[in-house]
Amino acid sequence: MKNLVILISGRGSNMEAIVRACAHEAWGARIAAVIANRPDAAGLAFAASHGIATAVVDHRQFPDRASFDAALAQVIDGYAPDLVVLAGFMRVLTESFVDHYSGRMLNIHPSLLPMFPGLKTHQQALDAGCRVHGATVHFVTPALDHGPIVAQSVVPVRTGDDAAALAARVLETEHVMYPRAVRWFVEGRLALDGERVTLTPAEPQWLFFDDSQAAGEGA
Ligand code: GAR
Repeated sequence: MKNLVILISGRGSNMEAIVRACAHEAWGARIAAVIANRPDAAGLAFAASHGIATAVVDHRQFPDRASFDAALAQVIDGYAPDLVVLAGFMRVLTESFVDHYSGRMLNIHPSLLPMFPGLKTHQQALDAGCRVHGATVHFVTPALDHGPIVAQSVVPVRTGDDAAALAARVLETEHVMYPRAVRWFVEGRLALDGERVTLTPAEPQWLFFDDSQAAGEGA
């Protein structure tokens, strides 16, 4: 049984999707804890109501990143994680924290990396005139929003989209892709080879979400 620790900062809808998939698909894993860096993170209530241990390590209580990350690692390690899952965890992490979880920490980022690291990714995609956009699950490395790619989801950008509409379309794919990628890790199917991730046995490490027919836009 593998121990998963999920870190959130807010809503926690990706965490919810992972918790539900872990239960419904009977993974060989348990969600050992959900940890937030904000006491008001809405996702904490969902986790607690599902009998999952919760903890808050409030970054505002620490003078600098290094001391926050050290305290956070201590709480995480108390749950003996096989995998740390960043699910909308909105903190830049120090190199020593990332190194400590090397090869056993995943993140989801709402863009097709390496395009649009950082914040306001949906607006960045709109401003750049992209015709497709999406999300990426990757292993975490010290460089922000960078690391070996486990899976990517792609959605169309529609005329008239604003950042909120695009974010909603991408989020729907995140809820399918992130649990799938975490399950691959739990099943021991992911191998790292430099910047590349291989999945054995192979299956598509992408998700194309195209409802343009339904939206009346034609093929
Ligand atoms: C998700 O869209 C996730 O991709 C993004 O925050 C949202 C969290 O939603 N993550 C980042 O921007 C990380 N840089 P959730 O709390 O409902 O899962």
